[in-house]
Amino acid sequence: MSTVLVTGGAGFVGSHLCERLLAEGKRVIAVDDLSTGRVANIAEARAYGAQFTFYSVDVCAEGMSTILGRHRPDLVYHLAARPEARSVLDPRQDAHASVAGLLNLLEAAAAAGVGKVVLASCASVYGQARKFPVRETMLAGARPKTPGAIGKRLAEEYLRFYERFRGVDFTVLVLATVYGPRRDPAGDPGLVGSAAVRMLAGERPIVRGDGHQTRDFVFVDDVVHALALAADRGSGRVLNVGGGVETSVNALCHMLGEIIGFRGEPLPGPPEAGDVRRMVLDIEQAGLEIGWRPWTHLEDGLAETVASIREQL
Ligand SMILES: NC(=O)c1ccc[n+]([C@@H]2O[C@H](COP(=O)([O-])OP(=O)(O)OC[C@H]3O[C@@H](n4cnc5c(N)ncnc54)[C@H](O)[C@@H]3O)[C@@H](O)[C@H]2O)c1
Repeated sequence: MSTVLVTGGAGFVGSHLCERLLAEGKRVIAVDDLSTGRVANIAEARAYGAQFTFYSVDVCAEGMSTILGRHRPDLVYHLAARPEARSVLDPRQDAHASVAGLLNLLEAAAAAGVGKVVLASCASVYGQARKFPVRETMLAGARPKTPGAIGKRLAEEYLRFYERFRGVDFTVLVLATVYGPRRDPAGDPGLVGSAAVRMLAGERPIVRGDGHQTRDFVFVDDVVHALALAADRGSGRVLNVGGGVETSVNALCHMLGEIIGFRGEPLPGPPEAGDVRRMVLDIEQAGLEIGWRPWTHLEDGLAETVASIREQL
């Protein structure tokens, strides 16, 4: 039975990933400091008994080398990160997990003989792109606008260093805007969660800016599938993972309104720091390199997300 370590394992994407790996018969070690993650997210993973182990620990802690030395995972997924919006308010705190945490993890991984690290990066590493859909080749010369995105760029370079000098293989998946069940409606719900919660309460959703800005939305199950495929493919590559469809924030709110049965225009709010005007990823390379493509239509994924939020309210 192979062993996989997931940092950020009690978070939104991480907890779904743990369940997928457990269902595949892997032994899963989840690490999370519960800064935004929740124990409730790993309830299903815990039902796997001894196949699943959880450590409530900071990725920067010295204990990471003990954990990796004890379990000797074959593969590490690094998903631990502070929410990107908060990175703008506190860049030092953000760098703690994204830079110091990654280096601590990579040192421990190299010492424990880990074969590969898969990093979840974000589409904001491209900054404000000029050509769409955004290709991986556009990373050269890109100017990330937020500390969170700067940290992800730096992480990519550190991964290259550890691949070359310590023999740890890597794949970086550049994730678009991920939505789906379990994205914490009370904590960092993201656009889909916050708009849905307001509409379900009969209130107009608040959009940052004029709502004409576009995003690439990708359902969490599709992201987890890409992460699973990257376990033994996409060596040394940076690959976009998105829905590949450009959707304006206003159009998204309209779709959610149709699903929820809410009529009312979004309320304009102040623009978000570091916000980009357009975003849609070119996902062709992920198809070629790891055999991935998204299969969830936005309407279906939104309906599933709304249903899960309804259950929690
Ligand atoms: N959700 C998205 O739309 C999106 C988009 C692009 C990229 N990503 C990336 O995917 C990854 C997962 O995102 P998510 O949406 O599941 O976020 P999340 O906040 O739900 O999960 C991140 C987890 O990391 C944990 N964490 C933070 N700092 C830590 C530290 N120092 N030590 C240990 N654990 C720590 C948090 O408690 C949380 O459980 C992140 O790296 C994020 O940057 C997410």
